[in-house]
Amino acid sequence: MEKRNIQISLPVTGVEEWEAVKEPLMTGWLTSGPKVREFEELFAERHKVKHAIAVTSATTALHLALVAVGIQPGDEVIVPAFTWVSTANAVLYCGGTVVFADVDPKTFNLDVHDLERRITNRTKAIIPVHLFGLCADVDAIKRIAPGIPIIEDAACASGAGYKGKPAGSLGDIGCFSFHPRKSITTGEGGMITTNHEGLFELMSMLRNHGASISEEQRHHGPQPYILPDFNLMGFNYRMTDIQGAVGVVQLKKLDRFIDERNQWAAYYHEQLADIPWLRTPKCTPGDHHGWQSYVTFVNESTSPFPRNSIMEKLQERGISTRPGTHAVHMLKYYREKYGIKEDDFPGAKACNDFSMAIPLHNRMTKEDYQYVVNALKSI
Ligand SMILES: Cc1ncc(COP(=O)(O)O)c(C=O)c1O
Repeated sequence: MEKRNIQISLPVTGVEEWEAVKEPLMTGWLTSGPKVREFEELFAERHKVKHAIAVTSATTALHLALVAVGIQPGDEVIVPAFTWVSTANAVLYCGGTVVFADVDPKTFNLDVHDLERRITNRTKAIIPVHLFGLCADVDAIKRIAPGIPIIEDAACASGAGYKGKPAGSLGDIGCFSFHPRKSITTGEGGMITTNHEGLFELMSMLRNHGASISEEQRHHGPQPYILPDFNLMGFNYRMTDIQGAVGVVQLKKLDRFIDERNQWAAYYHEQLADIPWLRTPKCTPGDHHGWQSYVTFVNESTSPFPRNSIMEKLQERGISTRPGTHAVHMLKYYREKYGIKEDDFPGAKACNDFSMAIPLHNRMTKEDYQYVVNALKSI
């Protein structure tokens, strides 16, 4: 029997990225400089925002965003219970309190009714996550939480959209990831987007130790005696120009990658629709899904085997799968810190236990997709 080896995700990098990194390596300008600036400008244009600030990861993007909106000890920040752990960790970096809200297993995103119950007069920010590339219902969140800053965790949502607007332009600040499991990558890396001038200036300084001028201004300016002033305690979250050069090349491919992902997501929807125990991810035509991952849901009351056995069977056939992500409230650190029980967030727990990402990425062939479909049908 044929056995393929299909990864859950593989970045598309090659000769163009290789060529692009020559310039910073040859000129010796390696830290944030002209390539990062170019990447930021292109990213801001693509996501229809005034400003983009490149950083080292989505996690550090979230940290800067929360510092910038002023999160301090005693402040509450609402985070979906089903997300990558660092969405919550970033709140703790600021000394804030994480308040989990449940998710809707049909979308994997914030359940706005549950969110409404979690808002108090100490709520100082909400972080809707656009999980797996599907934007959260930001309009509904704004309706029930007017005036509360919205920080989009758009780690999975480069190029995704919502009601005709790009992810990263929907709230006050957007935070993106370029980890290799995302649609475009710089190895590690992240981007912050905003339309607010004040937040832009503040986060630009916070990224660079709190310095009042950038590295480029310092080294290329006419006054060699100038050292920056430091009016803030900042961080070193600068992206390198080597990553910036890769980012410029990757960003130019983003729309092609998303188009291809949409095409194969539609193929999965159609082909997998008649498997009664497998729910394909929600996608309606207006969603502008970014398809960072294709995450299904195993209905164990009708499936022939539990989810984990199905994942093992697929692995035996060379097909990688993963749980979508984890329920953060079920992780030991958070369970113990806040005394939370697994069942406190039933939607997140169900997603934790029954979600199953199947391979979808830009290095798969038609035969790979057919192979995955056939393997699932034969279970
Ligand atoms: C929803 C979400 N938020 C945050 C992150 C963190 O991204 P990074 O690895 O760039 O810090 C991830 C990464 O997987 C993520 O999926």
